[in-house]
Amino acid sequence: MKTELLSAHSPNEQRTAIRRAVALLQAGEVVALPTETVYGLGADALSADAVIRIFESKKRPRFDPLIVHLPEEKWLERIAVIPPQSRSLVEQLIERFWPGPLTIVLPATNLTPDIVRAGLETVAVRMSQHPVFSEVIQTLGRPIAAPSANRFGRISPTEAGHVMEELAGRIPLVIDGGRTSHGLESTIVSVRGSRLTILRQGPITAEQLRELAQVSLATADSQQPHAPGQLPSHYAPGTPLQLIQDISAFVVPQGKRYGALLWQSNPSPHLFVETRHMTMTANLREAGANLFRMLRELDQANLDGIVAEKVPEVGLGLAIMDRLRRAAG
Ligand code: TXA
Ligand code: MG
Repeated sequence: MKTELLSAHSPNEQRTAIRRAVALLQAGEVVALPTETVYGLGADALSADAVIRIFESKKRPRFDPLIVHLPEEKWLERIAVIPPQSRSLVEQLIERFWPGPLTIVLPATNLTPDIVRAGLETVAVRMSQHPVFSEVIQTLGRPIAAPSANRFGRISPTEAGHVMEELAGRIPLVIDGGRTSHGLESTIVSVRGSRLTILRQGPITAEQLRELAQVSLATADSQQPHAPGQLPSHYAPGTPLQLIQDISAFVVPQGKRYGALLWQSNPSPHLFVETRHMTMTANLREAGANLFRMLRELDQANLDGIVAEKVPEVGLGLAIMDRLRRAAG
């Protein structure tokens, strides 16, 4: 299959690209689209045949459920059930964070096919605020199931070129909407009564959620073993990666090519053959936006190893450290 790459940079290009994406989605095909977090591989969430193509093109195991993206808020209660004791909290979450990088797990109605939810009785829902994604989904007028547009177990794509590296030849269309603004996958919460459990850390931080509810973090054993996004060795680059506190104390093994992913330090230039600074201004948001791209670049530099400098574990730093720990396996 030849993969078409359509730019959505000018308004004209955008209109053409969106029309093409909607036509493919209506025909039961998959398309890669930018969201504000990472690029997604979307298909009609109400068609089991279309959704199967997502699993096939990503080589994703069928037991890993997908996020259902909604065209409009009124779709929420067609796809999910809001328990009465959670209603006020869910309404506040939506009011505050939608459209945006927050995914909410709720009991499912039977509108989505089983394969979308991997047979679970819950469904993960979100609304993207990306102009291209939201235009596509509103024109389609149906929910879109979309995981990150990478092959299973690999680093999520934050630009269209990454999607091409991952899926060219396996999907019909990639829309290029430039770099994604958050660069990290959405925060996932499950709602129980008036409490929240964070299943995956992301751009919406625990601090932000604590303004609305009691928040706990899913511990390793409370997590569903069948949700690989939450397993330790996900997002792994091919090159061995080591997380360290103090880069200046790291000794590069004799004759080995090492790269460094940096937070604040400035190691001597001849120590590492490649270096990437996630940020120059100790800005966690910038670091998050650059993380996956820089990991991907270092992974492609033919290195024997990558060392990554720890970032402060506050706010968005928790989500960044979560991804770095998974990358370190
Ligand atoms: O930012 C994002 O969330 C991106 C963009 C494309 O929207 N999507 C994304 O999807 O990261 P994916 O499939 O790569 O990660 C979704 C995660 C998986 O770890 C899956 O196990 C979990 O969501 N998930 C989906 N449905 C669930 C459910 N009912 N209960 C618990 N976890 C669920
Ligand atoms: Mg993913």
